[in-house]
Amino acid sequence: MDNGKLKIKWAGSQMKVLEKIKQRFAKDKPLKGITLGACLHVTAETANLMLTLQSGGAKLALCASNPLSTQDAVAESLNKNFDIPTFAKKGEDRKTYYKHLNKVLDFHPQITMDDGADLITLLHTERKSQLKEIVGSSEETTTGVIRLKAMKEKGDLKIPVMAVNDSQTKHLFDNRYGTGQSTIDGIIRATNVLLAGKNFVVCGYGWCGRGISEKARGMGAHVTVTEVDPVRALQAVMDGFEVTSLSVACQKADIIVTATGNKNVLGRDLFKLLKNGVILCNAGHFNVEFDYENLVKIAKQITKVREFLEELVMPDNKKVFVLGEGRLINLVAAEGHPPDVMDLSFANQALAAEFFVKNKGKLKNDIYTIPEKQDIEIARLKLESMGISIDQLTKEQKHYLSSWNEGT
Ligand code: ADE
Repeated sequence: MDNGKLKIKWAGSQMKVLEKIKQRFAKDKPLKGITLGACLHVTAETANLMLTLQSGGAKLALCASNPLSTQDAVAESLNKNFDIPTFAKKGEDRKTYYKHLNKVLDFHPQITMDDGADLITLLHTERKSQLKEIVGSSEETTTGVIRLKAMKEKGDLKIPVMAVNDSQTKHLFDNRYGTGQSTIDGIIRATNVLLAGKNFVVCGYGWCGRGISEKARGMGAHVTVTEVDPVRALQAVMDGFEVTSLSVACQKADIIVTATGNKNVLGRDLFKLLKNGVILCNAGHFNVEFDYENLVKIAKQITKVREFLEELVMPDNKKVFVLGEGRLINLVAAEGHPPDVMDLSFANQALAAEFFVKNKGKLKNDIYTIPEKQDIEIARLKLESMGISIDQLTKEQKHYLSSWNEGT
């Protein structure tokens, strides 16, 4: 068996909830007659989502949602072994990246899936004539959902969308445990540095930042969190992390990870404060969180030290090490989130596609979330697959929770 197929098979063996959905889809064919275009990180986990949708009867086309995140063996295997047109090559340039997105839209999908909202953006800009063909579009990530909410706010959203990220069984697990583990994995694979004893700064204390902070602390790093949101900053304080401004934190940082979903968090004004030998990397969706472009511009010398590790010599002779050109390090240098947690995220994606078909013609150009019942069902199935049983409310307890007159 080729390497890609083996990777897909192994990942699939860890995705028990998705497997259950796949079996039901194979029987009921809820996506029969649907063409679905996906722009997701082309990984072994995504391949298993594609196979689930295919077993539900969908015709598929897939492209990458980041130029550096593709697992080439997986892309090849999807094309060769599974008859799923996949347009993705690790390291593709920006022009090729957009050519691939356009190839997916050339299939005229009725449902799209995004991780970062690039297909939806293309549909609302260069390919507006296809908007009327769309039944619904789902979005995987925090950054993408932020974009969609901005579109809705401005009255620019012309299709129904599903914010998969907003499901409890997505962001509470994928963002926290998935990004947490895979970001540490990416940093270690790119550098092979010891984390114990390092001053490790995490910018942003959303669910991703939380996960990264927890895992870095677990490896023995001294973790400092930076935030702009007072509530999140307070949470970080009470979770036991040091919290301060980035301009203070960056002066002693050995490693800085951005996970904010925003741009220029670490900009030119802070470069001169960085310690000699600092390692910079990003775990957010886009490569704009620290100003890589300007770092490269002002560097006197750039040397590739290892795959995905560059040494930049600054005008004052300090060395700054940058990982993966500022692109999301967990997918660039490692393999993204493990399949066990993508199981939950992609169960949500598969059910989102089914939701769009079931509600075709009834939805507004609005942002939807997976019905709570299904969100809870995904958690129940996951527990079941792990062999974990939980308690049930008694009749008396249910009654107590739905009444108000039993007091002190
Ligand atoms: N996003 C983060 N990790 C991922 C993975 N393993 N596959 C697809 N998308 C991801």
